[in-house]
Amino acid sequence: MLGPVILAASRSDRMRRLVSAAPVTRPVVDRFIPGESVDQIVPIIQDLTAKGLELTMDVVGEDITTPEQAAAARDAYLELIGRLAELDLGTRAEMSVKLSMFGQALEGGHELALANVRPVVEAAAAIGTTVTLDAEDHTTLDSMFAIHEELRKDFPETGCVIQAYLFRTEADARRLAANGSRVRLVKGAYKEPAEVAYLQKPEIDKAYVRVLRILMEGDGYPMIGSHDPRLISIAQELGRRAGRKIDEYEFQMLYGIRSDEHLRLAAEGHRMRVYTAYGTDWYGYFMRRLAEKPANLLFFARSVLTR
Ligand code: FDA
Repeated sequence: MLGPVILAASRSDRMRRLVSAAPVTRPVVDRFIPGESVDQIVPIIQDLTAKGLELTMDVVGEDITTPEQAAAARDAYLELIGRLAELDLGTRAEMSVKLSMFGQALEGGHELALANVRPVVEAAAAIGTTVTLDAEDHTTLDSMFAIHEELRKDFPETGCVIQAYLFRTEADARRLAANGSRVRLVKGAYKEPAEVAYLQKPEIDKAYVRVLRILMEGDGYPMIGSHDPRLISIAQELGRRAGRKIDEYEFQMLYGIRSDEHLRLAAEGHRMRVYTAYGTDWYGYFMRRLAEKPANLLFFARSVLTR
């Protein structure tokens, strides 16, 4: 029952100030967000790709409040893409972006977010890679899907994320699977009301499998974003039944979570992409990782107490 409480705290400014300022927090944060700057993250990128893993890079941040912050977010991604160009990794390192960080929630936010994300998608394409639009809370998704569709007119490789816990997702999956899109399927990490989402794990897991089947049987490129061993086996089986080759879908996991499994799947010949977040505005991302596994909170508390 701690998960929803932590998720509510992830949107609290007071908690943000408290947790972010505590000097003990940073070493714990490192497990999930292994750097605050491009210079700190480049060695991590080199290390993971040398191990045969692929990456999707996230500059952490969300819920910004001014157009200047949105422009700064765009520039942070452009700086990252400049460094990726030097590493010449192509699609082995793509980008994940949250449109709320690009101004989606501000006045005129839909157009602002599109205007800020387009140069990032263009710059990614120029170095032979692509961008995936993360899914945030359910109120943002119509705008996210519209931006995804708009970007795909010029950059068809642009991906998006769908969340199994939402009732709407089966319909979204059918549409996206029919138009050849790259789609990452995740369980969903936000605090959603019972009117729009399944709230219990067994129901969410069943929905995940239903949506996965739609994606595997469709024309698109499924990206299975989960650490759940049962769902990973089911994905392999559904991929086989749908006649997909091993490189016609991929697995994705978060940096710092089940790292042995990243290597095991890559060694089996799967494309395994690690979602690697970095930056200074890590609070929301960090709190969602705590909410997914409240045992992480004990780890956090223990490291505070033992200092
Ligand atoms: P589940 O939560 O059942 O976990 C399965 C097992 O994985 C656990 O038993 C545990 O061993 C391990 N595990 C999972 N989370 C852990 C954690 N935080 N710490 C330690 N161990 C953990 N969500 C969203 O709403 N929008 C998005 O755009 C994205 N993007 C995204 C990208 C990628 C690549 C991944 C893997 C996930 C996301 N998510 C997301 C998050 C997603 O919605 C979900 O909250 C987490 O992936 C946890 O769900 P699992 O499928 O891993 O299953």
